[in-house]
Amino acid sequence: MTVVGCCVEPVPVLSSPPKFATDSMRNDRRVFTKSLTAGVAGVWVTSDRWTSLGLVPAVAAAQTVALKDVVPKGWLIGVAINQNQSDGRDAVAVELVSRQFNAITPENLLKFQSLHPEPDRFTFDAQDRYVAFGLDRGMAVIGHTLVWHSQTPGWVWSGTDGGLADRATMLERMHTHIATVVGRYKGKIRGWDVVNEALNEDGTLRDSPWRRGIGDDYIAKAFEFAREADPEAELYYNDYNLATKPAKRAGAIRIIKELQQHGIRIDAVGEQGHWRLQSPTTTEIDEAITELRATGVKVMITELDVNLLPTVAAPRPALSTGTPQRRSLEPASPAANPYVNGLPDDVQQALARYYADAFRVFLRHRDAITRVTFWGVSDGDSWLNRGRMNHPLLWDRQRHPKPAFDEVTRVLMAR
Ligand code: G3I
Repeated sequence: MTVVGCCVEPVPVLSSPPKFATDSMRNDRRVFTKSLTAGVAGVWVTSDRWTSLGLVPAVAAAQTVALKDVVPKGWLIGVAINQNQSDGRDAVAVELVSRQFNAITPENLLKFQSLHPEPDRFTFDAQDRYVAFGLDRGMAVIGHTLVWHSQTPGWVWSGTDGGLADRATMLERMHTHIATVVGRYKGKIRGWDVVNEALNEDGTLRDSPWRRGIGDDYIAKAFEFAREADPEAELYYNDYNLATKPAKRAGAIRIIKELQQHGIRIDAVGEQGHWRLQSPTTTEIDEAITELRATGVKVMITELDVNLLPTVAAPRPALSTGTPQRRSLEPASPAANPYVNGLPDDVQQALARYYADAFRVFLRHRDAITRVTFWGVSDGDSWLNRGRMNHPLLWDRQRHPKPAFDEVTRVLMAR
């Protein structure tokens, strides 16, 4: 960790940590170093031993650098939180999120399925608490997501004859959903992922039930309805692999330009950022942001994580999801699950370098990038585990900052 004016580099306790050293041991040392550098409280904190003594908040508090204090002015640095966190049940995460971030995204709570499970029933309790969580902390509250082919209940698309609902019916259902949800959080939610993942990898429109039922203009309709419900809210198109698939990126640019040509408001495009150490490269990230920003809309990295696990045999993409699920088969072979005892140092350092390089590219485009959001608070919270043990984020399972956190803050502070 870089601490201004104090020791620039954490004093390495051990030049080359012994191989068997687990993550938490290394991080205990680092937290120890930090506490030293924090110096103030001289609190020596390591995870499990102190948790029961209610000293957990000291972990987050001991972190002298907060991402939200070192990002460029006006940038949103956010995190996706789950209901345990927005309901305040995960105290350590709440402390960490409040300390480090100035924006939140709901991992699942504002998806169609969670909000509007039946035609005449909306559920807003947990959702209201999510919005309050952010507003109470002066954070930008993001809405994810209004129109998606996944996590949308079947009744939305089914017609009276059990077949696909007709255009008018599906449009009316989309309008009711958006008007009710966006209307409820008018002036509270900063911006919405209005449409999520509408593209195939070749840049053509995904054959989703929304498109089959309404037609290609379902995207334009969704943006119109969102604008109508809250004229001040920012409106985003969100997708994945825009940095790795130029054809898909071209498809996203087509969507943006068509909306602009019809005078329909779109404020930004989100590249989700579910990346790997090998892909995308910094050149690909740079090219993608350069092309996307050329449309005149802002660019956001909306669901950043770096998957460190080998891809298991890709399961059939079920129509209802479309997004390939990286779930491991029972039981995950050791080869498919190599980091159950923590990350080897070389992988830990490779992850730190990858994140640092990515943030250097983001900084080169700081005037076009408005938000970077991590998809989960810490490794244990990540969707990328799915029966395996992944380490894709900046905090480990003890919510200790990883070398990747240090490298990212170092790059941000060095700008
Ligand atoms: O809520 C039910 C719970 O009642 C049930 O007991 C449990 C057991 O199956 O499932 C719970 O629902 C799970 C839900 O997450 C809430 O935890 C779903 O099975 C599970 O599929 C769902 O996964 C979410 C996934 O989207 C669904 O596609 C992940 O948490 C979430 O991180 C992920 O996020 C998506 C973004 O929205 C869009 N971009 C890709 C990203 C990763 O897939």
